[in-house]
Amino acid sequence: MKLLITGGAGFMGSNFIKHIFKNHPNWQVVNLDKLTYAGNLDNLKEVGDSPNYFFVRGDIANKEDVKAAIGQGVDKIINFAAETHVDRSILEPDAFIKTDIFGTYTLLEAARENNVAQYIQISTDEVFGSIKNGSFSESSPFAPNSPYSASKAGADHLCRAYFKTYNLPVIVTHSCNFYGPSQYPEKLIPLFITNLLENKKVPVYGEGNQMREWIFTEDYCRAIDLIIERGQVGEIYNIGTGYEKQNIEITKFILAELGFDESMIEYVKDRPAHDFRYSINCEKLRGLGWKSEIPWDEGLRRTIKWYQENEWWWKKLKSGEYLDYYKKQYQSR
Ligand code: NAD
Ligand code: TYD
Repeated sequence: MKLLITGGAGFMGSNFIKHIFKNHPNWQVVNLDKLTYAGNLDNLKEVGDSPNYFFVRGDIANKEDVKAAIGQGVDKIINFAAETHVDRSILEPDAFIKTDIFGTYTLLEAARENNVAQYIQISTDEVFGSIKNGSFSESSPFAPNSPYSASKAGADHLCRAYFKTYNLPVIVTHSCNFYGPSQYPEKLIPLFITNLLENKKVPVYGEGNQMREWIFTEDYCRAIDLIIERGQVGEIYNIGTGYEKQNIEITKFILAELGFDESMIEYVKDRPAHDFRYSINCEKLRGLGWKSEIPWDEGLRRTIKWYQENEWWWKKLKSGEYLDYYKKQYQSR
């Protein structure tokens, strides 16, 4: 089996490539990645020399780059590549439209031309918008509220249309929030851990009572692996765990684990159009034989430990362009 994994130098893409080499040593992986600020080849040091690994630096929205990657004769495509951070999408939506929508379109066209056996779209529960009570199912209507979620929703609609119109073997997956080792330190959990490791305060938006459902890297990788093997084309799968946490609860857990008190919290202006709660029903995925195996606090302790032990990985990321972004973000609110 030869997989084309896009965005494989990012957080979950790189964890997934490592999962593949551990669990399917005979599979081959082509990684097509543009290496944006979020792409990091340090994430792939341990697989870089494998004869079954091929790296193509390129843009999923560029036909020629996609051709160079797919031309290596791939069986299946898993599209992890995206612009992924909601706050950045509020500041500068442009790259989100280009990569998340036009990039997906470019890949779908290439999948069609090359008769790939399966195309899996990595998407998010954020396309459904916010839900006060209960959980979204695979057939809930889309109601995205940020340029990020709107771009992902646009891409998911294209996937559906390519299945319906051209019979392309597409599967769409909507996952809850990821956490685990090597997540870029702009997202809530790695930002708060690394700020505290630098003795800096943590910026909680609003009152911190918003809720997210969380999945640890290893559980997520097993879910996608199962969908590659047993997912039905034309279907949609939600990937969730039921681990629902308020932001403030997560903040207090990290503070306590690192030996700080609540004076390290800085309550800052809320994010515009901040979704209050995400929750998804993932009975359909459980029906394929998957269940979450990593308890929430074990995953969070393992994540904290990883950042403690891998300062070299994140320290160099928190400078330059990163600091410009933060300045811009707080000025704009
Ligand atoms: P990330 O931001 O850590 O990495 C994104 C990767 O995509 C980087 O390696 C980057 O270089 C690459 N990339 C960006 N634009 C590209 C382009 N035009 N062409 C080629 N490569 C490009 O991402 P992540 O948080 O690991 O998320 C991976 C996927 O999972 C995304 O599709 C995201 O929407 C989805 N998702 C994320 C979460 C989450 O909590 N982070 C939850 C659900 C779904
Ligand atoms: P984030 O990790 O950006 O993921 P998403 O917005 O895609 O769910 O944010 C998770 C939650 O944490 C969200 O409710 C916003 C909040 N948040 C903060 O309170 N402070 C921060 O500095 C960040 C980045 C997020």
